[in-house]
Amino acid sequence: MRRSSPAMSGEGDEEEAAALVESAEPPQTSVSSGVASIMVGLVFLALLIGFSRWINLDDNSFILGNISSINTGRPRNHSLSNYTTPFTCSNGTSTTCSGTAAPPPWRWPAAASTTPSCPDYFRYIHDDLQPWRGAGITRDVMERARKYAYFRLVVVGGHAYVETYQTAFQMRDVFTQWGILQLMRRYPGRVPDLDIMFACDDPGQVRAAEFAAPSDAPPVFRYCKDKSTLDIVFPDWSFWGWPEVGIRPWTPMLAEIERENKRVPWLQREPLAFWKGNPDRYRIRHDMMKCNVSNGKEWNARLFNQDWGKARQNGLKDSSIPKQCLYRYKIYIEGNAWSVSEKYILACNSPVLFVVTPFQDIMSRGLVAGKHYWPIDRNRICESIKFAVDWGNQHPVEAQLIGEQGSRFAREEMSMDYIYDYMLHLLTEYAKLLRYKPTIPEKAVEICTHSLACPADDQHRPCMMDSMERRAADSDPCTLPPAFTTAQAKEMADKEEELLRNIQKREKEHAARP
Ligand SMILES: *[C@@H]1O[C@H](CO)[C@@H](O)[C@H](O)[C@H]1NC(C)=O
Ligand SMILES: *[C@@H]1O[C@H](CO)[C@@H](O)[C@H](O)[C@H]1NC(C)=O
Ligand SMILES: *[C@@H]1O[C@H](CO)[C@@H](O)[C@H](O)[C@H]1NC(C)=O
Ligand SMILES: *[C@@H]1O[C@H](CO)[C@@H](O)[C@H](O)[C@H]1NC(C)=O
Ligand SMILES: *[C@@H]1O[C@H](CO)[C@@H](O)[C@H](O)[C@H]1NC(C)=O
Repeated sequence: MRRSSPAMSGEGDEEEAAALVESAEPPQTSVSSGVASIMVGLVFLALLIGFSRWINLDDNSFILGNISSINTGRPRNHSLSNYTTPFTCSNGTSTTCSGTAAPPPWRWPAAASTTPSCPDYFRYIHDDLQPWRGAGITRDVMERARKYAYFRLVVVGGHAYVETYQTAFQMRDVFTQWGILQLMRRYPGRVPDLDIMFACDDPGQVRAAEFAAPSDAPPVFRYCKDKSTLDIVFPDWSFWGWPEVGIRPWTPMLAEIERENKRVPWLQREPLAFWKGNPDRYRIRHDMMKCNVSNGKEWNARLFNQDWGKARQNGLKDSSIPKQCLYRYKIYIEGNAWSVSEKYILACNSPVLFVVTPFQDIMSRGLVAGKHYWPIDRNRICESIKFAVDWGNQHPVEAQLIGEQGSRFAREEMSMDYIYDYMLHLLTEYAKLLRYKPTIPEKAVEICTHSLACPADDQHRPCMMDSMERRAADSDPCTLPPAFTTAQAKEMADKEEELLRNIQKREKEHAARP
């Protein structure tokens, strides 16, 4: 199970870790939906008033007025049953799965009332699967995905099988498979028979332009895509932990960040923008490093280099993400693609200065500019950061709202409960498109929770133990909302553009001032 890190295929991995090392924050619990939407409304109103006072008193459209009304995702409590799937490493057979029976399907409550709608980012499940929507996915098309894939994962009759094609950096593949196994524990009997090809490298690779018809494109699951690629977005491995860089699974990370947020209230934080990461190899990060105060001009940014080699030598003591919620503003910037740091940065209760990026991951697609983050112009990063910080320090109420809304999104809409619901919906919708019955590939081996966890070493096992699903859900997942209509999508894009333009204009005026 152990893999050495450096021999990676030129991937931008550690860099992500780098970006990673930034942030995170804490949260409160959900309120019942009616109250929640009223509160969101009030918050919005406050934001609107704040912004319009600053911008242009008549210009209400500035702050994305209605986008919030599209949001149907309300935090709900996902309750768990008493049904548990056994786990033990004591038995000598525990490193293989042979002989394990599929868990009996949990009996779902008969009168399951319709569950609340899932958050809006679930709508992109439809977009991701759109290419195969009429023609379906034939075995032939599916197998053409092999050249991109690191592994193939097949579920047949409640058992999971993996055929490995290439070694992924660190344990990305294993933790991804682990995540799917935990999904099967949380929703026993619910994960349908399926056959997926999974790629563990960073940017999307399935270029739409290379295929005459979209349904000719091979379906490739991975963590990230952009507009020009057809990869299917899946939660990245770090939700179950990234032990090589000291990152625990998402749920305990959130709890730690929450404690830090309580410890250092926003107004007591440094009134500056913070980033820590690895700038090497990425031009945009390199550009951003010029905004550091050490370069002779005050752009309100404090940027730090993360040297992973050194950090490991001292046991990652200075790299604790929860300890990085000490600045009023946190910068998020892409690396080789999306950065795993995103969710920790967002969770910090400090407004995120989000350097606008073409990369889409499960989380970024749910974020609304002006509500969850402050967009930073990727072509004028220093000026843009300077203005955002000056503005926020002059409008602390509004700035805190953005920080809180971003954090609330991270802890409520991106909670593990929803991550599992997302995975279940995505895999279920995907399985419906298969035009053949999945069978176990000859070279595949069965995987199960104990076959991964029992042989894991001391570095990896704790993350697995901390992220193991012990009890089955006792209700249905949230209800999958439809795709955004073309009109809704256009409206959101237009509003975002308008916000960017408005901010740009203010930035230039601000910069021109002596
Ligand atoms: C905002 O939403 C309300 C209620 O849904 C609607 O009546 C109004 O026309 C919308 N305004 C804009 C500018 O879209
Ligand atoms: C949801 O869970 C929280 C925390 O466990 C609890 O305080 C709250 O009452 C629950 N709400 C509902 C509607 O069950
Ligand atoms: C689960 O177990 C607890 C403790 O044994 C019991 O009080 C509770 O009623 C059980 N819940 C269900 C849904 O069976
Ligand atoms: C080990 O597994 C076998 C087969 O599942 C079972 O019969 C046996 O009781 C187990 N032994 C222990 C000590 O759990
Ligand atoms: C950025 O500036 C701070 C403050 O002077 C300094 O401590 C830090 O090392 C600088 N970062 C880099 C990457 O040079």
